[in-house]
Order: sequence, then C-alpha cells, then structure tokens
Amino acid sequence: MVKKALFISLRSRSSLMTIDAMKRFFDIVDDFDLRRIEVTTKESIKVSYDGKLLGGYDCIFIKGSFRYLSLLHAMAVAFENKSYLPIRSKAFYLAHDKILMHLFLAQHKIPMPKIYLATPVTAKRILENEVHYPVIIKLPNGTQGRGVIFAESYAAASSMLDAIIALKQPFLIQEYVETGGKDLRVFVIGNKVAAAMQRIAKKGEARANIHAGAKGKKVSVSEETSEIAVKVANLIDADICAIDILESSKGPLVIEANISPGLRGITAVTKKDIARDIAHFVYKKTGEFIEMKKKIESEKLLREELPKAEFGKQIITNLDFRGKRILLPEIATKASKFKEGEEVVVKIDEGKICVEKF
Ligand SMILES: Nc1ncnc2c1ncn2[C@@H]1O[C@H](COP(=O)(O)OP(=O)(O)O)[C@@H](O)[C@H]1O
Ligand SMILES: [Mg+2]
Repeated sequence: MVKKALFISLRSRSSLMTIDAMKRFFDIVDDFDLRRIEVTTKESIKVSYDGKLLGGYDCIFIKGSFRYLSLLHAMAVAFENKSYLPIRSKAFYLAHDKILMHLFLAQHKIPMPKIYLATPVTAKRILENEVHYPVIIKLPNGTQGRGVIFAESYAAASSMLDAIIALKQPFLIQEYVETGGKDLRVFVIGNKVAAAMQRIAKKGEARANIHAGAKGKKVSVSEETSEIAVKVANLIDADICAIDILESSKGPLVIEANISPGLRGITAVTKKDIARDIAHFVYKKTGEFIEMKKKIESEKLLREELPKAEFGKQIITNLDFRGKRILLPEIATKASKFKEGEEVVVKIDEGKICVEKF
C-alpha cells in the first residue's frame, strides 16, 4: 500500500533534513510551507494550502514557531485521528508557553525548578522576600535563550521586571539552578532517548543554548533523566521532542520541552543520523496508525450492521456442548430475550453463528 506523508513547516534546515529522510521511507512526501496554509472553521475545521483543501494523508508532520501557534494547533485538531501526527494538539497547546507547560508538568509531578507566577502587584514582594539571587525571569514564549533573563540582585531583577511590565509582557520568575552554565538536551523519539548532549554555555554567558554560543558534548544520560524525558514527551503528546534538563544537586529538573528542536547541533555532536531515526520511527508509527484505523472502521461497520441490543453484550467464554449440540450461556437467553419455542433464523458460517428473531 502506498504511504503518503505531508510535512508542514517553515522549511528550516532541520525540517528539510527530516523531509529528505522521510522520502527514503514513504512513497510520497509533500513539503508544504506553513505560511501558505489557511484554516477555516465552521461545523468542522478545514485546512487548505494555496486555496486547495488538504486531506488524505497517512501521516502529517506539523512544525513551526510560536508565532503560528493558533494555526499549528488548529491543524493538529483538524487532522487528529484522521492521520498519524507525530506532534499532536496538546503539544502545540502546551509547548509554546512555558507557564502552561510548567503547570501541566507540575500536575504530573515532574521535577522542575521552583516557579513564581506573579502580578505587577505581587512581583516586588516575591523579589524582595521569597527568592534567592541570582534569579531568573522568563518570557513564557521565548526560544533560543532569548526570553531568559538572569538577574544577579534585587536591583537588577526589579528594574528588569518594571521594563517587562511596562511592555505588558507576561513573565514568570524562576529559581536559579546552579549547574556551571551547563544543561542537558535530551532528544526523545517515541519511548526512547534517541540522543543526548550536554551543552556548555560560552564564557561569560549563563544560557546553554547553541544559539547563544554554547558548545555541545555527547553524553549518555542516567536512567532517571531518561525516564523523566520520555515521560514528559509522552505526557504532552509529542513523539518527537527535545527536553531541556538541568542537573541539580537534587536530581534532574525539567526546564523546557521543545517540539521543534534543531537537528544540526545534536547530529554533529552525537554523530547520529537523527533525521533518519525520526523518519524511520514516523514511518513505523504510520503503519501502526493505518492498521488501528482499519480495525476501528471495521468494528464501526459491524456495529452499524447489527442491531444495538445484539451488539451490546459480548462475553468471552469456552463453548459448552451437550452431545453434538452447542449450549449457550444463560446470559445469551437473558440479553436476547428469546422465549422457548420462538421462531428464529440461525445463520451459520465457519467460525460464526448468529441467531436472529424471524
Ligand atoms: N532555572 C534555571 N537555572 C539555571 N539556568 C537556567 C534556568 N532556566 C534556564 N536556564 C538556562 O537558560 C537556557 C535557556 O532556558 P530555556 O528555559 O530552555 O529557554 P529557551 O526556550 O530560550 O531555550 C537553558 O538552556 C539553561 O542553560
Ligand atoms: Mg531551551
């Protein structure tokens, strides 16, 4: 059977690497630019590309930046259950907002640095009385380290916060975790850590983002870290994602789940063909998805063909024989409401018997 995939993205280098790798597995891989997508919703959500309605794919891989969040989210909702989506709607809902993500992960007891959600009224008190310095202030939808501010003192933190408040930006205050400018980028594919690197911030820089000049080093992560990373990926419904983790003295702390992680850094550092691993995994999952869909559809058909009452009760049992005759369990008499002597049609096939009122 021909397997058809669609990749919707901003066509970054990492996306193109994944598309190329997917072409080695799928029969067809369409490569569409997110900026040319339109979504309309009325009774249902319709997605079109250059004005043409989209659909009929076995797999749809959606990627993009938080600027397109509503579009990404809407597409994921529209295609969920119709095609296999490596990144599903919950992930889009959560991953572009660090506040939502931390609240969600906290509900699931994922270890993380302490976070304060403050208002302009309470922020000063928190900065004066609650936190230790340095402290971190983050913009909830920053990426590549750009929305992360390190404040060494109350004076620095309170003036930064005034600027953020004046710009009417949402923010969160986060406990600083001492790691010597290092963090872990743990790349998850499905239920496994596919690759991991330690990132070391460049001299004089506290953020360990590659875009902020950090250098990566291949590492193997502890079982605890690996379990946490896979759990976060599973919880947020992202089969492909990178989890940023700080290794604190109290164990691994999750700071971020990245659903559009760059591939070049981790590929160069770990010498693993991550794009191929992603493509292979996505191909396998697409096959499983197609099988599952077929099963659900045939069960649905069966349900539509049979009257409700007959389908309503199912039991798994061993057949009882009286001589050469089959004896049905008592529940069959009760649920079918058949009376003794009633006229019935017995439809018989190999491996199947159906008794119906005449
Ligand atoms: N609470 C923290 N304590 C110490 N360092 C942090 C903390 N939060 C973030 N960092 C550093 O800043 C970098 C960027 O933070 P992160 O939350 O991942 O935002 P981004 O989305 O911009 O990558 C991290 O990779 C890490 O090096
Ligand atoms: Mg990060």
